[in-house]
Amino acid sequence: MHGFVYRRWKLIAAGVIVLWLVGCVGRYTSFMPRSGVEVSSADCRRCHQEIFLEWQHSPHADSVKNEHYQFYSDGGSIDSCRGCHQPVTIFTDGQSPPPRVTQANEGVDCLACHLQCGSFWGPLPVRYEAHPVVVNEERYRHSALCGVCHRATYSEWQAAPFAARVNTCQGCHMTPVKRRVMAKPSLVSRLLFSTPRVVKTRSHEMTLASIEHFPDAVRVELTQDQAGTQTLHVMLRVTNRLPHGIPTGEYGYRKATLAAELIDEDEKTLAERSVDFFIELRTQLVPLKERQIPFQFEGVDLASVRQIRVRLERSSLEGEKRIVIGTWDFPLDAQPSSAQKQEESN
Ligand code: HEC
Ligand code: HEC
Ligand code: HEC
Ligand code: HEC
Ligand code: HEC
Repeated sequence: MHGFVYRRWKLIAAGVIVLWLVGCVGRYTSFMPRSGVEVSSADCRRCHQEIFLEWQHSPHADSVKNEHYQFYSDGGSIDSCRGCHQPVTIFTDGQSPPPRVTQANEGVDCLACHLQCGSFWGPLPVRYEAHPVVVNEERYRHSALCGVCHRATYSEWQAAPFAARVNTCQGCHMTPVKRRVMAKPSLVSRLLFSTPRVVKTRSHEMTLASIEHFPDAVRVELTQDQAGTQTLHVMLRVTNRLPHGIPTGEYGYRKATLAAELIDEDEKTLAERSVDFFIELRTQLVPLKERQIPFQFEGVDLASVRQIRVRLERSSLEGEKRIVIGTWDFPLDAQPSSAQKQEESN
């Protein structure tokens, strides 16, 4: 007996390892959705930790919990709202997404964008299938994926001139990152799935903060400034270079504000004028359509004005969510009618 174990130790060890691995794989598939099992995005965290953390800070993870939605949907109880805010899946062949009953608080969860017919669909080729995977790059890189819920914005994108439409939603709203598809592996999963490779991919954070000062989103030119002694007329020529309106969206309330400030030598603001753009009033900045916006300043000591600072920002109606889309400085010197354009300073 002793001799047998001794002679066959390699075989026995291999057998033990195989049994152990089979056990692990069994355990690892416990997060796969099947009847009677509730799957949470937190179950994906075990292997896709970095992606989970990005998603956790996205508006999608917050789409049910956020107080505006809670208020306007009567605590999440209006059926017609739930399809987009807590969907089962977005792969419905043009139908509205059906609402999910379980894990409602997770909002737009991992499964909604990735699970179809028992497999997880994604854009990248995989090395090891810890669970069934279907690779479909086209689906994940196309704006239509976002358009299932962002309907108004997607229509604007479709209608935008081609020059603006070369960019996809993902291209601008999912910041490029380098990280592992599968993160924080244990020794076992490292043995099983090999060392996770670092890939060039895109962040799931999708917050607007990440596009603050998006280069070249908007072009602003100062086309005219006639100084009297007390009165200054300024004409701004504004072109939205995004493939959707500013602001955009069909839900929630938001506005964009274009403000012009007169700044003196000590960086103090002497005067400010602004104009608001609303979706509801159809005063949005439309893709690639130039807009002339006049401002008039009266009763200022023009001699002390050093520059005109233009700021474009977007905020929700109550102003508690605010991002600066861009700022532009135009030095005001002695010559009248300076038609200078300055690139974004930031
Ligand atoms: C046991 C670990 C593990 C768990 C848990 C897990 N995954 Fe995965 N997943 C992997 C591995 C490994 C890959 C392949 C990675 C590779 O080859 O680079 C993968 C690949 C994927 C892909 C394909 C990526 C692509 O672009 O082709 C998607 C989508 C995905 N997982 C979604 C999920 C979701 C959603 C969950 C939660 C319900 C989840 N996974 C839970 C290990 C896991
Ligand atoms: C709103 C839809 C949406 C949600 C929600 C979402 N994803 Fe994705 N996911 C995408 C898109 C789009 C891509 C492709 C990004 C690109 O262009 O590279 C992607 C890529 C991936 C990939 C492969 C590429 C990579 O970045 O590693 C994995 C794995 C993945 N997602 C897992 C998850 C997990 C896990 C969750 C939940 C924590 C999740 N996704 C939530 C849309 C979504
Ligand atoms: C299942 C429906 C759904 C899909 C698919 C979806 N979104 Fe969203 N998205 C939402 C909802 C709902 C909100 C509002 C969440 C909130 O503010 O609480 C939102 C919010 C956002 C915001 C923040 C907007 C703001 O005003 O702050 C951005 C940016 C965004 N999504 C980008 C994307 C991109 C890019 C894609 C495609 C990769 C995508 N979304 C796919 C439903 C979806
Ligand atoms: C060229 C880059 C770019 C592309 C492509 C793009 N966006 Fe945007 N998006 C922005 C910038 C910059 C803002 C901030 C300015 C604004 O509010 O319009 C923004 C704002 C938004 C907002 C917030 C609403 C608002 O008015 O503040 C949503 C929602 C959104 N985008 C969704 C989408 C969707 C869906 C697509 C694809 C159909 C898309 N975006 C394509 C750059 C882009
Ligand atoms: C077709 C999909 C869809 C449906 C249906 C839907 N929403 Fe939304 N909702 C979105 C998207 C996408 C956003 C992100 C902003 C945008 O594009 O308008 C959003 C954003 C919001 C916001 C803004 C959140 C914030 O903090 O800025 C509120 C509030 C909201 N939705 C309430 C509702 C209510 C209430 C209903 C039902 C009457 C509803 N939604 C139905 C897709 C949808």
